[in-house]
Amino acid sequence: MGVSTNAGNKQVSMNGVEVAFQSENVGVTGCIGDGTIAVNSQNKEAIMSLPILVVYYSLGGGTRHLADEIARGIDSIDGCEAWLRTVPKVSAVSEATAPQIPPQGAPYVTLDELQCCGALALGSPTRFGNMAAPVKYFLDGTSSLWLSGSLIGKPACVFTSSNTQHGGQESTLLSMMLPLLHHGMLLCGIPFSEAGLAHTQSGGTPYGASHVAGADNQAKLSRDEAALAFAQGQRLAKSALKLNR
Ligand SMILES: Cc1cc2nc3c(=O)[nH]c(=O)nc-3n(C[C@H](O)[C@H](O)[C@H](O)COP(=O)(O)O)c2cc1C
Repeated sequence: MGVSTNAGNKQVSMNGVEVAFQSENVGVTGCIGDGTIAVNSQNKEAIMSLPILVVYYSLGGGTRHLADEIARGIDSIDGCEAWLRTVPKVSAVSEATAPQIPPQGAPYVTLDELQCCGALALGSPTRFGNMAAPVKYFLDGTSSLWLSGSLIGKPACVFTSSNTQHGGQESTLLSMMLPLLHHGMLLCGIPFSEAGLAHTQSGGTPYGASHVAGADNQAKLSRDEAALAFAQGQRLAKSALKLNR
């Protein structure tokens, strides 16, 4: 896709994924993801919104409900736009491949989107106190971005859903932070100024939003879980805007 825009007094043609405007009063990076030009600069003509990726894996819906609240929090901040994305299942049969577009729900995330996002929220169900294999598999496929240092300095946060309250949510959240730290990302937790952290009777941790789905995986997000996920989305978006100023 080729796009032309006027950045300051410069005519800039955008044919690739990442666009860097080199001008004294216009210091921006931008990208073309799903057809949106997203830039952050003082150049009002080029500004649309800063994409914040919300990438998650969810089979039963618990992690997805958190992702939706985080996305609402992101979208409530002017200048930011949440892009909800998922990752495919990992198959035990190595020949099996997923269709490029999932039959329903969020599209699969691409490395291009990760490269040009303003920030990342990453979510996984708790699996034996750790992230689910599809999320780890996706992260293991990001070495090209590690080599290019593309994610260095971008803010990130993590979230999870589990059956039980003491079933390893915090270790899962910490496990998800490790690869993001290797990428040089700046991790945002949830500060105790969020009242829900002290009140919650189920999920919600300083390490990231969480949901206790119950033994049958049917529990809805509690008010505190939803409020904390929303606040985490807002915090991530505000951090991204400040860092991209
Ligand atoms: C292989 C496997 C391991 C799991 N390990 C844990 C666990 O360690 N602690 C826990 O509370 N729940 C565990 N669960 C339950 C899931 O974390 C829980 O159902 C979660 O809400 C699923 O998220 P989802 O609805 O987004 O798919 C496990 C589930 C599976 C399939």
